[in-house]
Amino acid sequence: MDSREFAKTIEKQVAEFCASLDAKLPAYSYIPLTTDEMRVKVMQSRLFNEIRAGEIFGGWLKSTPELDVKKTLAEATHEEYEHATFLEEALRSKGAVPHEYQALPAQMAMFNAFEGLTDTVERIAAFPMAGEGVADYLIAKSLKAGTVPKWITAPYQKIHDDEEEHGNYPFEILVKYATTAEKQERAARAVSMSLVLRRQYFDNLDRWVYEGKSY
Ligand SMILES: [Fe+2]
Ligand SMILES: [Fe+2]
Repeated sequence: MDSREFAKTIEKQVAEFCASLDAKLPAYSYIPLTTDEMRVKVMQSRLFNEIRAGEIFGGWLKSTPELDVKKTLAEATHEEYEHATFLEEALRSKGAVPHEYQALPAQMAMFNAFEGLTDTVERIAAFPMAGEGVADYLIAKSLKAGTVPKWITAPYQKIHDDEEEHGNYPFEILVKYATTAEKQERAARAVSMSLVLRRQYFDNLDRWVYEGKSY
């Protein structure tokens, strides 16, 4: 398949996953939450994600031969720690201890799974494209909802602006490098893996926020 056509099929797969969340938005989106206690839990969980995202992008640097992708990953690494700082400040403003948090089982598995990917195309498809694509879809929704408090939307507006700024770089990386049937097959599987684990993470987070069970 032509690599641009392939990138579009992945984009569609991610868009369908996003649409499937609309009927019952996860706690992760903040939108269904009714107390700051719940919102703090979600933000702590999402702060963990920023830290892990930076670790993973940074960890991929040496094994990424494509210099343009390497530079993009280096910038993304730095950006994730800026996001972490925004969330730490917001949590402190609510009297919460930012990193007083234990990762949920599927959350650990999801990041460990990203970390284990070895090929540039599958990495970029699974994490920046599928993983961050879903995250940013829900951020956009939370900003538009009008019911999410300002202490949440203010840091996420900055995070969302960052995501907008680098536009659709994962798509362009796939167009440039997903040029063989083998690479495309690996990337498609990695995207499916990413979405399965994200679904599980959202379910784990719901259970923790609503029922207090972390595993
Ligand atoms: Fe990011
Ligand atoms: Fe981030």
